[in-house]
Amino acid sequence: LSVKKELEKILTTAPSHEFEHTKKDLDGFRKLFHRFLQEKGPSVDWGKIQRPPEDSIQPYEKIKARGLPDNISSVLNKLVVVKLNGGLGTSMGCKGPKSLIGVRNENTFLDLTVQQIEHLNKSYNTDVPLVLMNSFNTDEDTKKILQKYNHCRVKIYTFNQSRYPRINKESLLPVAKDVSYSGENTEAWYPPGHGDIYASFYNSGLLDTFIEEGKEYIFVSNIDNLGATVDLYILNHLMNPPNGKPCEFVMEVTNKTRADVKGGTLTQYEGKLRLVEIAQVPKAHVDEFKSVSKFKIFNTNNLWISLAAVKRLQERNAIDMEIIVNPKTLDGGLNVIQLETAVGAAIKSFENSLGINVPRSRFLPVKTTSDLLLVMSNLYSLNAGSLTMSEKREFPTVPLVKLGSSFTKVQDYLRRFESIPDMLELDHLTVSGDVTFGKHVSLKGTVIIIANHGDRIDIPPGAVLENKIVSGNLRI
Ligand code: UTP
Repeated sequence: LSVKKELEKILTTAPSHEFEHTKKDLDGFRKLFHRFLQEKGPSVDWGKIQRPPEDSIQPYEKIKARGLPDNISSVLNKLVVVKLNGGLGTSMGCKGPKSLIGVRNENTFLDLTVQQIEHLNKSYNTDVPLVLMNSFNTDEDTKKILQKYNHCRVKIYTFNQSRYPRINKESLLPVAKDVSYSGENTEAWYPPGHGDIYASFYNSGLLDTFIEEGKEYIFVSNIDNLGATVDLYILNHLMNPPNGKPCEFVMEVTNKTRADVKGGTLTQYEGKLRLVEIAQVPKAHVDEFKSVSKFKIFNTNNLWISLAAVKRLQERNAIDMEIIVNPKTLDGGLNVIQLETAVGAAIKSFENSLGINVPRSRFLPVKTTSDLLLVMSNLYSLNAGSLTMSEKREFPTVPLVKLGSSFTKVQDYLRRFESIPDMLELDHLTVSGDVTFGKHVSLKGTVIIIANHGDRIDIPPGAVLENKIVSGNLRI
């Protein structure tokens, strides 16, 4: 009850032009918070989790083998591409939206996305639009940049996800005293995860607009996944289902390796496909859950979803996503929680859902500067906004790169490489401490460079390091 009162108080501080959407946000939050208070105990019963049946996760090769019809352009014209663009670049030490970080030849994530879709539209003479789901953290900066694409052959739309109040962990009351989100209120609000897409897309009116225009599916993915390009075979499979039964939701999954500890897996649960995240697994079963042999695949967050189904389920309030409780400590030391949902968790609410086991190349996320080093290097070539593994690399696997904390921030990372080393023959790179790389360095096999505290290692220009451990002090 007291939360309700606090929220009402906050709403009274909204200026009239912000009143309606603030009310919607706070109503949405109230429902989620209410569920959080009601639901006690684990969200899944481990005993009910089963391996998904054979045909519910299909190999991509099988989907591809069906080929493409002559009318692929008309199929493409029923597609809308949605990128999740609510996140900031803070984990790589950047201010502002993550999508505006330069990843390859000065191109940002957003530039590459626009180039990909423009290429598609030009090649097939189509009008596939791009929709960005922004958050209050990214909206202003993103919109400023969008003018840059005015002359591109891609219509770009944006909508905002909700803004929810963070809750004091002890009192369970909102931290915010009013609606503002600057000054002392900067940390009082948060975007409630990408599961918010269903409600926000619906509320924005864009969902209806696209349905009226004859669009049928959205392809949703993380903007930081450079492998998430429009795949014509998957799209065709959706538009022309082999058994005539339309599939409302496709989750692209890919084979887990031992390095993939994060990411939910698809399971069969009460007769439906369900995404289970590690946080939902009872402690006693975590090792079993992590095992590569029992749960072989994980969610790439590349999703294909029927627009009509989103509308139907949203209007019936029937999209069910587990609540993720995310604890945080604010700058001033206050412990808070924020309640979030994930877009893929809704799979169980849709009819005829399907997993497609795609090649690893469709999952190329850039979460750290180690990932950035890989995508900036000659391991990949850039073609119309898409990155593909260079044909000159002899093995199909990506090297394992671990850059130490002196490289965490993009700015520091860039300063430490005069040019990006040749990595075509690299298997494993570990760098730790105060290390810099001169121009045209080549890294091959396993390379470990460790500068201990107080030491510095400058790798000289043109150096070729092959299966080498470098340590000590090496200044040039
Ligand atoms: P994150 O980078 O925060 O998530 O967002 P993650 O932990 O790596 O991966 P998930 O959540 O398990 O998939 C992934 C994408 O979702 C967007 C980010 O901008 C990024 O593109 N996002 C995240 C939103 O749009 N809104 C949010 O509230 C959270």
